[in-house]
Amino acid sequence: MENTPIPTSPPALTRTDFLRLMGTSLGVIAMANCASGCIREAIEKAPDAVDFTVNWNQSPYSNLKTKGGYFVEKGVIVAQTQAGAFVAVEATCPHQGTTLVFQNNNNRFYCPLHQSAFSTTGALQNGPAASNLKQYTVSVDQTTGDVRVKG
Ligand code: FES
Repeated sequence: MENTPIPTSPPALTRTDFLRLMGTSLGVIAMANCASGCIREAIEKAPDAVDFTVNWNQSPYSNLKTKGGYFVEKGVIVAQTQAGAFVAVEATCPHQGTTLVFQNNNNRFYCPLHQSAFSTTGALQNGPAASNLKQYTVSVDQTTGDVRVKG
């Protein structure tokens, strides 16, 4: 039977092992910085000023003809409420940049990632988001189908 010697001190770290560990650590730090930068960039892309016109006789804008229907265009989510009002707010969740949806049953804008909710005017109802959404004006010419979003 062979006896295995019991080590009395931890194994020494070689220079190669040390450099390998440092390289891995720096890579992790660089990836973390990139990830937070990407999130910050997505949040900063919410438009401050928009002025565009689409036509609801074309897909995907035709969703707006129906109560509860909505579309996302140029960073803005445009919806028709159950009461028949046309509303528009920025489409990017202020928490981590997820694109919002319109929930017809609850008459609100909603983030599917962490469940933040906003009223039809963009007012924060539930976090974790901590701020309101920018609101835009919508005008619809039901004769031509033109939908103008401005703000
Ligand atoms: S990204 Fe919207 S609540 Fe987190």
